[in-house]
Amino acid sequence: MPTALVTGATAGIGAAFVRRLAAEGHDLVLVARDERRLRQEATDLARLYAVRVEVLVADLSDHAACARVEDRLREPDRPVDLLVNNAGFTTGKPFGESTADDEERMLDVMVRAVMRLTHAALGPMRQRGSGDVVIVSSTAAWLPGGTYSAAKAWQATFTESLAVQLRGTNVRVLGVYPGYTRTEFHARADIDMSALPDFLWLDADDVAHRALADLRAGRTASVAGASYRALSGLSRALPRGLARQVAARRPGRSTEPDADEGGRLPAS
Ligand SMILES: NC(=O)c1ccc[n+]([C@@H]2O[C@H](COP(=O)([O-])OP(=O)(O)OC[C@H]3O[C@@H](n4cnc5c(N)ncnc54)[C@H](OP(=O)(O)O)[C@@H]3O)[C@@H](O)[C@H]2O)c1
Repeated sequence: MPTALVTGATAGIGAAFVRRLAAEGHDLVLVARDERRLRQEATDLARLYAVRVEVLVADLSDHAACARVEDRLREPDRPVDLLVNNAGFTTGKPFGESTADDEERMLDVMVRAVMRLTHAALGPMRQRGSGDVVIVSSTAAWLPGGTYSAAKAWQATFTESLAVQLRGTNVRVLGVYPGYTRTEFHARADIDMSALPDFLWLDADDVAHRALADLRAGRTASVAGASYRALSGLSRALPRGLARQVAARRPGRSTEPDADEGGRLPAS
């Protein structure tokens, strides 16, 4: 059975990936910080889908913990066929109102850890001549929104660069660009999303399902939801001045000028 390692596996989009992959028969390595939740999830998945599930408790902003996940990805006897870099969060505060340590943690989890885990996974994948890497970015990548958006933009450029560099190999890379998705993301950052119209909300299972279908179709970018796909090209084509105005008016920032996750108006 193929093995998938998913970061941020206990909630939202990561948990949706894990359910889907388990249903398809993948063995799993689940990574997140909350050990109790991870173990419960592992027990449930193993029982429901008869797959092998390992638990790796790691705070990816901690360099030593991140290194343990890297080691697991390099283990020659237990190859990982699919890496899903999904863990992420936002402070929910404008830059300057959050602490520099919190801003740095965003970069550690969404830039440093993604770079290091991908590096660790790609070595063995290239040697074996097969493997997949998924990076869950955001539509926030294309509009200005503080360190969160900057990290997501790094993920987008990084993914595209890898897609170019891996051409001609049997190793695939996919960037996933969710718009606003119903998960724990906004509540964790204390962001009021009550003003967001229903049609702009995505379902985490749809995001994961679409991503896996796009990966298998050989695409390098995945955008769930017809409205987000329609708006994706538009937001990327916007003149930067207009992009800044759109970003300043996006839902979730009614009280704090730059306070939301950066789901923003969509792009792909
Ligand atoms: N929801 C949206 O509207 C939206 C839109 C665009 C993009 N995204 C992106 O989608 C990805 C998943 O977010 P989500 O919406 O599913 O959020 P979520 O429901 O809050 O889940 C986040 C997951 O990441 C884990 N995590 C958080 N910090 C971590 C750390 N330091 N080390 C290891 N694991 C950590 C959490 O588990 P523990 O707390 O146990 O560690 C949890 O499993 C993120 O990269 C996010 O930026 C979300």
